[in-house]
Amino acid sequence: MIVFDEKQKVFFLNGKNYTYAMAVNECGFLQHSYYGAKIERCDGEYLRFIGSFKEPRVGNLNMDEDFHRMPSECGFYAHGDFREPTVIIENEDGALTSRFRYVGYEYKKGCDKIEGMPCVRKADETLTIILKDDFSNAEISLIYSVSDDSDVLVRSLNVRNLGNEKIRLKKAFSFCVDLDGGEYSALRLSGRWAQERMEEVAPLAHGITKIQSLRGISSHHTNPFLGILKGDCGESFGECFGVQLCYSGSFAVTAEYEKVSSLRIQGGINDTAFSWTLNGGEKFVTPQAFLAYSNEGLGSLSRSYADFLREKVIRPDLAYKKRPIVINNWEATYFDFTSEKLFSIIDGAKGLGIDTFVLDDGWFGKRNSDETSLGDWFVNEEKLKGGIKEISRYCQKNGLKFGIWIEPEMISEDSELYRTHPDYAIQKEGVEPCRIRNQLVLDLTRKEVVDYIYSVIAKLIIENEISYVKWDMNRCLTELYSKDLGSEKQGEFSHRYMLGVYSLMERLTETFKEVFFEACSAGGARYDAGILYYFSQIWTSDDTDAYERTKIQWGTSYCYPVSSMSCHVSASPNHQTGRAISLKTRGAIASLGAFGYELDVTKLTKEERESVKEQIKEYERIADLVLSGDLYRLSSPFNKDHFAQMIVSKDKSTAYLVVERFLGAKEFDFVRNLKLDGLAEEKIYKIEELNVTASGSALKNVGVVLPKLLDFESVAWHIAEVK
Ligand code: DGJ
Repeated sequence: MIVFDEKQKVFFLNGKNYTYAMAVNECGFLQHSYYGAKIERCDGEYLRFIGSFKEPRVGNLNMDEDFHRMPSECGFYAHGDFREPTVIIENEDGALTSRFRYVGYEYKKGCDKIEGMPCVRKADETLTIILKDDFSNAEISLIYSVSDDSDVLVRSLNVRNLGNEKIRLKKAFSFCVDLDGGEYSALRLSGRWAQERMEEVAPLAHGITKIQSLRGISSHHTNPFLGILKGDCGESFGECFGVQLCYSGSFAVTAEYEKVSSLRIQGGINDTAFSWTLNGGEKFVTPQAFLAYSNEGLGSLSRSYADFLREKVIRPDLAYKKRPIVINNWEATYFDFTSEKLFSIIDGAKGLGIDTFVLDDGWFGKRNSDETSLGDWFVNEEKLKGGIKEISRYCQKNGLKFGIWIEPEMISEDSELYRTHPDYAIQKEGVEPCRIRNQLVLDLTRKEVVDYIYSVIAKLIIENEISYVKWDMNRCLTELYSKDLGSEKQGEFSHRYMLGVYSLMERLTETFKEVFFEACSAGGARYDAGILYYFSQIWTSDDTDAYERTKIQWGTSYCYPVSSMSCHVSASPNHQTGRAISLKTRGAIASLGAFGYELDVTKLTKEERESVKEQIKEYERIADLVLSGDLYRLSSPFNKDHFAQMIVSKDKSTAYLVVERFLGAKEFDFVRNLKLDGLAEEKIYKIEELNVTASGSALKNVGVVLPKLLDFESVAWHIAEVK
């Protein structure tokens, strides 16, 4: 619900459980009033004067001592607010100062699609507040979309040049919110390859805390999510905020903290070396940021994000659609395979309950290692006699669908494509390019290159009856330069690259609606809401070890639904860690996401084959819960000797609990009574595997007694309401 109190000039936004309020002060500045637990009524007069800052004196703009503490909805440079600005505008004469004041607002039901960028697909109402600069012809529109059924507030901003003279943006974040002073901690999801989204919580100290990527992808190292915990906040209690960017490229989110007075959170496209030129009449549109609030702890914040992404961001025809159970050949063969080997894997997969065979890297050009052939998206007939058509047909004959791996954004110097079009690669004449995994990146800022790649991939899909595409991206961007952009626009490169990627994704997913696309980036280096707008599923990590995965999946679940996480059962000992873990536990951890296999099925024993069949049947039972249920994180792998997570159906009639015990615990250290969460206290439930019946209240307060588990042993229990 959005209310504007005309008299008090207060904007009052209500979502499911939160209120967000702003006011226009006497000098015409838009100031932040409140963000927190829901207030039912818009008390305009009260909300207008909330906070301890003084307004600058009208008329002579006497910048009072307190003015720089004014909670703002958008920070500007050099006008008396000495915190980091949200937008920096350079005028034709080089002046950088700006002072934006309120000029009006627009209201609409629903929300607009952002052309060419991922964005929220539905919202109940949208408010656009328009500000105009005292110093230049720039106009800023602050955009807020709210929905009654959601705790996520969608924000972005646009800058328009209303004049004839050029202006240049040197920074254009998507949002700014100034929270009150107090004690705060930041929750970040940091990592590296094969260890993505590791939870890290640390108290905020004075100054600026910044999470960012300058890699051209959202990155393994820092996810574009920041949790802000106010005071004491845990899984099921306390106040917290979330910031999530709907963006997959270089980003930054900052938290600028002055303990007694304010905490400014803002973020968007990374401003390092960023610039964007706006000629008269042109507009710059920032990516959206998804802000969330909860006063019931991080668990509820995560469930709000999961609901929001499933309901309003992921393609509606895919959000709740059953995911194909795949067998992927990467860890079974790496580059070393022949048609016969692939046929034997397909033979092995037949009858297990697997839906799709996905042929990974190594099928095209002369690709027998990572040194060659990216860009040559035609089959290596020497390796695969009869081409991929034969493999595709063989799958069909055996009741499987066929999927394929591609890395469309890349080019190898040793490729037909590079020999014909060296100019397609990102590089600058005379500068030795950085190679990462021996490859270069295509210059997707150029429409010609995007069009070319689109036509080649479209042909590949059509000719080979492909029903599943795994879209990989194995390196970061360097030497950001495109000769087509001229000298003035090189600062636009990084964002223009993302616009190229998004346009390719949009065209392919729109043309091939029936094809299931899975994103991947050297594991999970591009796991973000931007990607989820196009692809409903992302390869979570190259680390499939069932211990390490508890941490990776735990971290990922802070802001993404479990249904978006590709989770495969791989070989034991694990290829990344060398750790041996039972098939049962590998299956249990993978079942907390979109399930599949990543091992050589031809090497399974008869007993293991039977177990796999069982595992798949078990997964089919809970597949709907994974798609649409609520996740409850019960015991953290980051600080406990066991991991426990539970998925509960929306109507609270069924639940699925997975527990894994880790190393290092003496038997008596292990918590034997695990307290469940998320069930309806008044309902009676039966835990199938224990044949035990108890109320939701007893299961929550007394807990369930876990059996004695050895290292890396697990349980996966089904809980159902007794009617
Ligand atoms: C990185 C991915 O994360 C892997 O799953 C695999 O597809 C390789 N790339 C192939 O090169």
